Amino acid sequence: MLDILNHPLITHKLTIMRNKETGTKDFRENLDEIAELMAYEVCRDLPVRPVEIETPMGPCTGRELSKEVVIVPILRAGIGLLDGIRRLVPTAKVGFIGMYRDEETLQPHEYFAKFPKNLEDAVVMVVDPMLATGGSAVDAITQIKKRGAVNIKLVCLVGAPEGVQAVQKAHPDVDIYLAALDEKLNDIGYIVPGLGDAGDRIFGTK
Ligand code: PRP
Ligand code: URA
Repeated sequence: MLDILNHPLITHKLTIMRNKETGTKDFRENLDEIAELMAYEVCRDLPVRPVEIETPMGPCTGRELSKEVVIVPILRAGIGLLDGIRRLVPTAKVGFIGMYRDEETLQPHEYFAKFPKNLEDAVVMVVDPMLATGGSAVDAITQIKKRGAVNIKLVCLVGAPEGVQAVQKAHPDVDIYLAALDEKLNDIGYIVPGLGDAGDRIFGTK
């Protein structure tokens, strides 16, 4: 399943992020706000179970989330989506996977992994602003599945058709959520029109 979250607020904020004149502070703040808006949609089908409670007026059958949510940002840039999602799901646990893309070969390399226990029972949201060739997301999801996860959602801001196809081919069971599906990759593997290097723009490293 590919869900492109076409929403005027998301598109407006993403346009600010795409603008090369936008500095680190505004880039980060808009990413954080988009993450919160996307989380609302991504959580739409989270499972719930009935729970008996007492309101001040009497008994009531309410509903509560029945599965733990685990957010896994792909380091570094995925960190930019973490706080916004956690504001909506404050009980979520957080795992980390560090991947960097070799600038020459475009191959992803894992350099860090730390996950909470019981991934097999959780809804796992893998988050990264950019889905370019898809190499990083495909490898991250493979590693997360090896730790037992079976219910995985991939949440990215901007995707290229190549990246979407790569994830769909390698992990057809994973739902993909994007704020925008862009046109293509350029010859050095950057998304066009995209927004440039997300990690560098979030952390001010270039
Ligand atoms: C970026 C981005 C993704 C990856 C996407 O990370 O945040 O993780 O590239 O490219 P792909 O789909 O072709 O794998 P990068 O490797 O630049 O590392 P960073 O987050 O540390 O900046
Ligand atoms: N990584 C980024 O940060 N941006 C791109 O366009 C592609 C990969």
